[in-house]
Amino acid sequence: MMQATVLFNNPAPIRKIETEGIKYAGSKLKLIQYINNIVYKLAPKSILDGFSGTTRVSQAFAQAGYQVISNDIAIWSYHFAQCYLKADRPRKYYQDIISHLNSMPEKQGWFSLNYGAAPENLNIRHKKPWQIHNTRKLDAIREEIDRLELDDIDKSVALTSLMLALDEVDNTLGHYSSYLKAWSPRSYKAMFLKVPALLAPDGRHNVSCGDIFDLIASDKVYDVAYFDPPYGSNNEKMPPSRVRYGAYYHVWTTVCKNDQPKLFGKANRRVDTSDKISSSIFEEFRKDASGKFLAVNAIERLIRETRANHIILSYSTGGRATSEQLHEAIRLNGRVKDVIEVDYKKNVMANMRRTNDWIRETEKTHKELIFVIEKT
Ligand SMILES: C[S@@+](CC[C@H](N)C(=O)[O-])C[C@H]1O[C@@H](n2cnc3c(N)ncnc32)[C@H](O)[C@@H]1O
Repeated sequence: MMQATVLFNNPAPIRKIETEGIKYAGSKLKLIQYINNIVYKLAPKSILDGFSGTTRVSQAFAQAGYQVISNDIAIWSYHFAQCYLKADRPRKYYQDIISHLNSMPEKQGWFSLNYGAAPENLNIRHKKPWQIHNTRKLDAIREEIDRLELDDIDKSVALTSLMLALDEVDNTLGHYSSYLKAWSPRSYKAMFLKVPALLAPDGRHNVSCGDIFDLIASDKVYDVAYFDPPYGSNNEKMPPSRVRYGAYYHVWTTVCKNDQPKLFGKANRRVDTSDKISSSIFEEFRKDASGKFLAVNAIERLIRETRANHIILSYSTGGRATSEQLHEAIRLNGRVKDVIEVDYKKNVMANMRRTNDWIRETEKTHKELIFVIEKT
């Protein structure tokens, strides 16, 4: 039996918060209200979003009035964060750039060669993520973004707009390690760039792109750090590359870098996302000499080395760490103040009566847990 007290049904957000983002495994879109309710009680001034992904959570924190430090190892996340947290020119200025990009005539290029197919040419051996009319637009627009020599923030706005538009017309289930064998209805549409929903920031926010351990090595102390690391998978049969963000979203790296990398495999992934190169310790599937998962060790180190009064940790019970291991990793370096389980299908948030109750919960069902940890 679930040992939990239902706190809120349909919890009211602090104020209406709307965010934008691509389809992303592990995106916290559905948890934003719950996370914001937790943060509100901690009343921070600054908050670190250490694994920002789509930046939806960073966008929500900024709208709730906190100073946000947004970080992720992925280059695409950096451009999203720059766009939403840094772009502060009038909307008309960005609209002119976006309208200009929309006006570019289609052009056959590298992206079309590798990621596009004509509607009649999709077959089981050559499944593609986009229809050719959209990759030809992509080829033209991406070349033009470089030719314009935009400054870093303007370029981030243009790339964000491009990625959001491509995401609207893709032929995938939401990731790019395989593609659909029959064209999705949305793939027939012509992609169209829009100005992203900019947040008119006031210059307070910071964006970084790198390994979280490099960021937290600085002397800075955060009021609150929100961590949503990759969970890996506790499914032993699942190949590790399938659960790695670099491998899932390789095309966004290439769209941002426009570096025409060497590709491999049926999905035409970048060679630097191959199984032999592990990009993140949190996605490691191996164990250390004492039998502990390297990914769990990384979480323990993360909690130990973060200078923050409170850490909010998102975790799914389907992740690599078992409840016992995760509990140990947290207990060594902090005190669990609260564990919140979110069932967003039923739109309820439950609070464990005792903070250890979650450990006894079945490991078989996948649940979203949010830990509120006080650093000791
Ligand atoms: C579960 S997702 C975060 C999702 C995000 N909260 C959202 O709502 O979109 C995990 C993220 O961790 C990032 N990541 C993986 N290893 C990292 C590391 N060592 N340092 C920083 N970010 C990392 C991945 O690129 C991925 O975006």
